[in-house]
Amino acid sequence: FLMLLIAMGCQDKSDKIVIGNFGSMTGAEATFGISTRDGIILAMEEWNKAGGLLGKQIELKAYDNQGKPEEARLSVEKLINIDNVVAVLGEVASTRSLAGAPVAQQYKVPMITPSSTNPLVTQKGDYIFRVCFIDPFQGEVMAKFAFNSLKFKKAAVLRDSKSDYSMGLATYFIKTFTALGGQIVADEKYVSGDVDFKAQLTNIKSQQPEFIFVPGYYTEVGLIARQAREQGIKVPLMGGDGWDSEKLVEIGGEAINGSYFSNHYTVEDPRPEVQNFIKNYQARFGSKPDALAASGYDAAVILFQTIKSTNSIDPKAIRDGLAQVKNFQGVTGIISINEKRDATKSAVVLQVQGKNFKFVETVNP
Ligand code: PHE
Repeated sequence: FLMLLIAMGCQDKSDKIVIGNFGSMTGAEATFGISTRDGIILAMEEWNKAGGLLGKQIELKAYDNQGKPEEARLSVEKLINIDNVVAVLGEVASTRSLAGAPVAQQYKVPMITPSSTNPLVTQKGDYIFRVCFIDPFQGEVMAKFAFNSLKFKKAAVLRDSKSDYSMGLATYFIKTFTALGGQIVADEKYVSGDVDFKAQLTNIKSQQPEFIFVPGYYTEVGLIARQAREQGIKVPLMGGDGWDSEKLVEIGGEAINGSYFSNHYTVEDPRPEVQNFIKNYQARFGSKPDALAASGYDAAVILFQTIKSTNSIDPKAIRDGLAQVKNFQGVTGIISINEKRDATKSAVVLQVQGKNFKFVETVNP
């Protein structure tokens, strides 16, 4: 009870609105957490400069979970119980959003994941939202692109058995690809952190697929690309948003060149929202924003606008406001929150060309 009084006292006296973020800022997925946090910081600084929110300045508490689900859970506990945040932004990886979401739901503090795409994340409860599309859509996008645009009929799959994202996306991809008439000639697995993929690639090579679908994260995908080429596999790799990092090309080098993946946004999008964001992010952080930075920015702005329009930091009011978001003109597209608290929006297909991710096509839901 005393703790509660102290907590209430802090929130009342505070001249700040505190928001929380949890992410992987170190480890094999470090760029995910860093980019997301920086996207949030940019949004926050822009709003603070323009007068803040409900007459107060916004403050961010951000915790690194080192890519560990248990740390992710603890981060959300800390944000809610120690920092008294009004809402939580995060995570990127679905497995870690799935670890953090039950805590936010338990305390009824709104959580918005900018970029977790596994459908189960928002099913953790009515306080859990996302501003991105989900993997049944993303899997369909890549299956149709491979089958209809590239005319491929034979696919191999190589997925991460410890990642909810990778396992789910592979399943949805296979479902659409086989429904279209395509064939899955191999379905191999690895575990996050693996560095040797030769056994799986040997099996895949013997089945002569026309491409390999690798719905993983950039560190493993880069290594898989290299080892595939070392084994004489020449077919393209294809994957999802988990490829998005400038580290993909650093790790994969020439081996990843020409491969395709689906994503949330493209730097080639001419809309002023996108080009202004890229310019401002580059000026602030000195690097080109990836899709995580863009999604983090969108999630933060949606939260701020919701708090502004509901004129309240009451968690229930914020929750109800988030559920109403329609046609938000975001950097990552036009965002509407549906009845499942997911966003309905388009995806883009990109091709790795040297150090750039070249826009290929937009796919609408
Ligand atoms: N969608 C991925 C997941 O759910 C995370 C991700 C999003 C990674 C965007 C990179 C870019 O795990």
